[in-house]
Amino acid sequence: MFILLEDHQPKIISQLIALETSVFGDAALNYWSLVPLIRHGRVFCRLEAETVVAAASFLRDWKNHRHAYLVSLVVAPGHHNRGLGTELLEASLLQLAGEGVSTVELTVALDNLPARKVYQQKLKFAADSIRADEYGPGQHRLILKKQL
Ligand SMILES: CC(C)(COP(=O)(O)OP(=O)(O)OC[C@H]1O[C@@H](n2cnc3c(N)ncnc32)[C@H](O)[C@@H]1OP(=O)(O)O)[C@@H](O)C(=O)NCCC(=O)NCCS
Repeated sequence: MFILLEDHQPKIISQLIALETSVFGDAALNYWSLVPLIRHGRVFCRLEAETVVAAASFLRDWKNHRHAYLVSLVVAPGHHNRGLGTELLEASLLQLAGEGVSTVELTVALDNLPARKVYQQKLKFAADSIRADEYGPGQHRLILKKQL
């Protein structure tokens, strides 16, 4: 089931934070970042048997209201390569387009090949630039953009 988290759902939030933490460690979304994203951004989830198996979180740009930024995309490790990341992102982009978003931007590590496959090959995000040291020394990020 594909859902937009629109209100405070403690069970789903704690599951999502556990998933984020298991995958991203220190860089994970936590209560202080996820709850504002739910209330003021957009957080889409895929649930299977009432368990969060994938999530995509977005914020909207202050300077350009038609521009959104993908803050996080995560699929539970036991569910990789089933097409869930692609499906969730596709469904999320459709919903954002319906809300007036016309461009989506994200960043990805150059060596994150599964994520780059989803973004660039499957969903046709285009490479824009590389930001050196974006997330700290040596943490370069590839910027990708897609017109909806
Ligand atoms: C990136 C991520 C969200 C993709 O989710 P997913 O549900 O596995 O994605 P999909 O199944 O839709 O597609 C994955 C594709 O990558 C391919 N792939 C897997 N490992 C790969 C690798 N090492 N090199 C190249 N391609 C790879 C798969 O074969 C699949 O392509 P296919 O459908 O043509 O076979 C998931 O791997 C994840 O949560 N990773 C950890 C968190 C992360 O890196 N998030 C993105 C941060 S920018």
